[in-house]
Amino acid sequence: MSILLTGGVGYIGSHAAVTLAQIGHKVVLYDNLSNSRADVVSRLARILGHAPVLIEGDVRDTELLAQTLRTYSVSAVMHFAGLKAVGESVAQPLAYYDNNVTGTQCLVRAMRRCGVRKLVFSSSATVYGEPQYLPLDEKHPTHAVNPYGRSKLHVEEMLSDLAVSDADWRIACLRYFNPVGAHSSGLIGEDPNGTPNNLMPYIAQVATGRRDRLSVFGGDYDTPDGTGVRDYIHVTDLADGHLAALNFLGRDDAAGWHAFNLGTGTGHSVLEVIQAFERASGMNVPYEIVARRPGDVASSYASSDKARQILGWQAGVRLDEMCISAWRWQQHCAQL
Ligand code: NAD
Ligand code: UD1
Repeated sequence: MSILLTGGVGYIGSHAAVTLAQIGHKVVLYDNLSNSRADVVSRLARILGHAPVLIEGDVRDTELLAQTLRTYSVSAVMHFAGLKAVGESVAQPLAYYDNNVTGTQCLVRAMRRCGVRKLVFSSSATVYGEPQYLPLDEKHPTHAVNPYGRSKLHVEEMLSDLAVSDADWRIACLRYFNPVGAHSSGLIGEDPNGTPNNLMPYIAQVATGRRDRLSVFGGDYDTPDGTGVRDYIHVTDLADGHLAALNFLGRDDAAGWHAFNLGTGTGHSVLEVIQAFERASGMNVPYEIVARRPGDVASSYASSDKARQILGWQAGVRLDEMCISAWRWQQHCAQL
């Protein structure tokens, strides 16, 4: 099957490209390279033995998307393209609504025009906002608390409305928890520009000595050790979840709109992640506990029962292995 991956050069899209291509799907990457580098394609070629097609373009370019869908006889789309930094979204909300919401609108217009109606969308656990109960299941009320989260929620709702309007659409919104780690080759991974916002890339840069110490945001949460608890999920497990969603959309009973959590179901505290990373790397990760980060919640972790029951998917990689792969990638990416 020929599958278009918008944002396919980015962190999660590139790992999904490997998973899909390795079982024989033809992947077409479509990316404006605003947060990624074209040389990822040559690194994908080293993993796969062939270079996937890359179309350099923006998801807001409906014409180019339609042309790409036709040229490559695309049957399904995985939509990773978007902006994802919470702090930046507060400072530049219009950029987030434009890229994430308008971008998705342009994409589904192009798909409809070309008769492509299978879509897997990169959503986020951030759509749940402050947890009212744990683990978070898909029935938990949604209440995004920042422009990034609201842009994801807008897209989910737009796609749900679209599926109601036309029974031919098959749409899976995958709500990722905290994706971390990298492909076992060490050739692709997360390479944030500037200071990392997220925990794992920050820890990795402290371990290499590039940054002095980690600031642990809050030590007085109502959690076993006082630090924030999250559901970290390895990026290749996440990629497998996309494949499972794609297979599901091919089933007779898959018409309509569906939301699935992709997480492990297990929460780990910041201190647990630091310790696991130290074990994995053999390096010291100095840290200090500082004030809480505004907008953070104490604990967030998934119930992935729905994904297990309906998609037949379950995460398998444990925290130690996540850290080992993140460390391997950190050492490689410093040389790229
Ligand atoms: P990423 O920034 O590494 O990848 C996104 C890719 O999309 C980049 O290659 C970027 O150049 C491209 N892109 C951005 N805007 C575009 C546009 N208008 N047109 C074409 N290409 C565009 O991010 P990622 O971590 O791989 O995230 C992928 C998706 O998953 C995003 O939609 C993100 O919101 C979502 N998500 C990510 C996380 C996470 O922790 N990484 C968590 C939940 C959800
Ligand atoms: C953040 C975003 C979320 C987004 C996700 C993935 C916020 C409020 N939420 O989630 O919307 O989907 O990233 O991109 O920004 N931590 C530290 N020190 C650091 C960095 C993080 O102690 O330098 C702690 C945090 O307080 C948290 C945990 O580590 O307890 C994980 O943080 P992070 O990786 O940023 O992810 P989230 O906050 O869960």
